[in-house]
Amino acid sequence: MAQDAPGRGRRRPVTRDGAAGGRAGSEAPAAESDPRRLRRVRRSYDAWARVYDWFARATASVGGVRAACVRSLDLAPGDTVVEFGCGPGVNLPALREAVGASGRVVGVDVSTRMLDRAAGLVARRGWENVSLVEADAERPPVAAADAVLATFVTSLFPDPYAVVRRWCDLADAVVVAAFVPEGNRAANAALRAFVALNGRLFDARTDDPLGMLAERTAAARRALDDGATVRERDRRLFGTIVVEAGRDR
Ligand SMILES: C[S@@+](CC[C@H](N)C(=O)[O-])C[C@H]1O[C@@H](n2cnc3c(N)ncnc32)[C@H](O)[C@@H]1O
Repeated sequence: MAQDAPGRGRRRPVTRDGAAGGRAGSEAPAAESDPRRLRRVRRSYDAWARVYDWFARATASVGGVRAACVRSLDLAPGDTVVEFGCGPGVNLPALREAVGASGRVVGVDVSTRMLDRAAGLVARRGWENVSLVEADAERPPVAAADAVLATFVTSLFPDPYAVVRRWCDLADAVVVAAFVPEGNRAANAALRAFVALNGRLFDARTDDPLGMLAERTAAARRALDDGATVRERDRRLFGTIVVEAGRDR
């Protein structure tokens, strides 16, 4: 993972153009994302932001997934944590609590409407150390952090391996939560319907949505296997969700 880690709580979020916070700079991108695909993702999540926000908050404690993710990040006060694909910010309260007033939380998302929802939360709570960046998580606008979190995002990437490896290079701890078709028959049927419904988002013109989901989640797992020293895997919610953690500490 990160070669130049100066230690816990001392990493600053540095954008690719050298500034703290803000958008990606003009440096060559770390990887190419298909702009049409990203526009499609943005449009869909923009359209569903309000509903998604409500749904995600209502289900935030289901299966203890989100709490397990934040625990696995092993954050300390003063740390800097980046959440890729932060959506409306359902994980932000726990992240902010874990790093405290002296730490820093950066939420990154491509959807303007999702970020608007997250910004409303930040304003209501009066957090001054939580920033939101509209950018592509596949080409991270942040060059260094203590930890990276991504919940229900990596399966939207055509090449999750490359993206998660990139995250491993920028942080000492990377935690990813993703759906896996490893549950019982009913759980798998629900997942299949979910992926089929979201085919456009997943860029999945496939007649095997569960196979694609399994492949993408496995790719993220391999990236953590290859990019992190310490590995943990925690299956939740009848085996339909996996929390994969990789740490160098
Ligand atoms: C299923 S939602 C998950 C939101 C949040 N992580 C949660 O657990 O509730 C996926 C989010 O990822 C964002 N997203 C998808 N592809 C992205 C990309 N390439 N870069 C940044 N955000 C992305 C979407 O806009 C959306 O907000």
